[in-house]
Amino acid sequence: MVCGAMRGLWVIKVFVLYWFMLMVSVGGIGANWGTQTSHPLPSDTVVQLLKDDGFQKLKLFDAEEETMNALRKTGIEVMVGIPNDMLQILATSTRAAQAWVSQNVSNHFNDGVNIRYVAVGNEPFLRTYNGSFLQNTLPAMQNIQGALAQAGLSSRVKVTVPLNADVYQSSSGRPSDGDFRADIRDLMLSIIKFQSDNGSPFTVNIYPFISLYNDPNFPVDYAFFDGTSSPVVDGSITYTNVFDANHDTLIWALRKNGFGNLPIIVGEIGWPTDGDMNANLQFAQKFNQGFITHISTGQGTPMRPGPIDAYLFSLIDEDEKSIQPGNFERHWGIYTFDGLPKYQMNLGVTNGGLVRARNVKYLDKKWCVFRPTASLADANVAPSVSYACANADCTSLGYKTSCGGLDARGNISYAFNSYYQKNDQDDVACGFNNLATITDKDPTTSTCRFEIMIETDSGSSWRTDSIQSRFALVFHLLYLYCLFLTMF
Ligand SMILES: *[C@@H]1O[C@H](CO)[C@@H](O)[C@H](O)[C@H]1NC(C)=O
Ligand SMILES: *[C@@H]1O[C@H](CO)[C@@H](O)[C@H](O)[C@H]1NC(C)=O
Ligand SMILES: *[C@@H]1O[C@H](CO)[C@@H](O)[C@H](O)[C@H]1NC(C)=O
Repeated sequence: MVCGAMRGLWVIKVFVLYWFMLMVSVGGIGANWGTQTSHPLPSDTVVQLLKDDGFQKLKLFDAEEETMNALRKTGIEVMVGIPNDMLQILATSTRAAQAWVSQNVSNHFNDGVNIRYVAVGNEPFLRTYNGSFLQNTLPAMQNIQGALAQAGLSSRVKVTVPLNADVYQSSSGRPSDGDFRADIRDLMLSIIKFQSDNGSPFTVNIYPFISLYNDPNFPVDYAFFDGTSSPVVDGSITYTNVFDANHDTLIWALRKNGFGNLPIIVGEIGWPTDGDMNANLQFAQKFNQGFITHISTGQGTPMRPGPIDAYLFSLIDEDEKSIQPGNFERHWGIYTFDGLPKYQMNLGVTNGGLVRARNVKYLDKKWCVFRPTASLADANVAPSVSYACANADCTSLGYKTSCGGLDARGNISYAFNSYYQKNDQDDVACGFNNLATITDKDPTTSTCRFEIMIETDSGSSWRTDSIQSRFALVFHLLYLYCLFLTMF
C-alpha cells in the first residue's frame, strides 16, 4: 500500500530529484565564520543558520571546541584553521603538530565532524607581516601533514594554506604574464610542490573590493560580473571581471612553474557593507549574488573551465577585527552580528532566500544617548567620544557610511551607545561626565542602526536536526525500495 502511494507521488519524486541536483550543482558555495566579536552568537545558532540557508561548507580560523561540537553530524564540510601565531611551534615541534591534530582533528573527526581541510596559517605572506612567517609556514604544513598521516587521516583531510592574491602578480596586468611575487617565488614553488605531492589544493583569497579601495581609478564595473566598459584583453581572451582575470593570473603562475593542474579553492571572496563609500548593501548584494550566479553556471574561468570551489567572506560581522586595513573590516558579514541577513541572496539551494538566526536573545530595549540638555560646546564631549570610539565601534560613522548622515548630536549618541551596548548595558558605561543618558526610544534612522547587544552568557541554545534533509533521505530510500519491489 505504501508503495502504491509512492507510485502516485512521482511528481514529488521528480521534484526531490531536481532539488538534489540543485544541491549538487552549487555544492561549491561555502562561508567563512570568523569569531573576532565581542558578542558572539551561540555556535548552535550559527550552525542552524548555515543549515537553514543551505551552506554546505564552512571555513574556520581556529578549532574552538564549542564550534566543532555544534558541527557534529551535520554533514557540513569543514576547513579548520591554525592561527599564524601557532606556526612557529608547529614548525619546530612534531610533537606539537601531533597534539594539534589529535585534539583538533582526530577527536572531532571521530565524533562525526566532516573535516576536509586544515588551513595552516592565514595569509601568512602578507607584506604587513614583514616576512615573520616565511620560515615557518611550510615546515608547519609538513608537520601537520605528517601528524595527519600518523593519525591515518591524510587521505581524508588535506593540508592547505590560505594565501592572499598578492602572492602572485602580473607586470602587464594580463593574466598570461602572471607569476609568483619575486621575493617569495622559491618558497611558493616549494609549497605548490608539497601540495601537488600530497593531493592538496591551493587556497587563494581574492578581493575585488580591495582593488577598488586601493585604486581610485579602478573601473567600478570591472569589480562586478555584468560586463565592463574597460575589459582586459589577453590574447584571444577578453576578461570582463577582475575575479576571472585575477584567478587566471594564478593559473598562469602555476602553469609556468609546472603545476597547471593544481586544484584551487577560493578561500575568501566577498564585499563589505559599511565603513567606506564603496562598502554598502547594494554593492555587496550585487557582488555576492553576481559571484554565486557566475560560479553556478559551472563554466569556471577562461583558463580553468569547470566548477569553482569557494567560500564567501564572511558569514557574520566581527566588531573586534582590526581596522588597520580600513573601517570596512568589521562589516564583511552577509549577516549582522545578531544574525539578521543584511540583504537577500539566492544561493540556489533554498527557495526562501536567507533567513534570520533563530531564537536570538537580546538585552533590554534601551539605548545610551547624548543628553538632550547637554551642550555640544562642553569640553568633555570630544574626549568622551574618542574614548567610546576607541573602546567600542564607530566604523559606521564617516563619509558615505550607514550613519554618515547623522548630525553632531546623533554622532555623539552613536558613539556613546556603541560603548554602552558593548559593555552589556552597564549603567556605568553610560556616564561620560554626565553627558549621556539612557532612553527607551530607539534612535535608529532609516539607514543607521543603533544596536542593542545580544546576550552572551547563556550556554544552552535551541537545537534541532535538519528535518528537511532527513525527510528527503527517508523518502529517497522508500522510493528505491518500492522500485526494487516493482522489478519482481
Ligand atoms: C586546538 O585548537 C585550539 C583553538 O585554535 C587551540 O587553542 C589549541 O591550542 C589547539 N590544541 C593543541 C593541542 O594545539
Ligand atoms: C613591520 O615593519 C614596520 C616598519 O619597520 C613596523 O612599523 C611594523 O610594526 C612591522 N610589523 C610587524 C607585524 O612586525
Ligand atoms: C560625525 O562623525 C564623523 C566621524 O567621526 C565625522 O566625519 C562627521 O563630520 C561628524 N558629523 C558631524 C555633523 O559632526
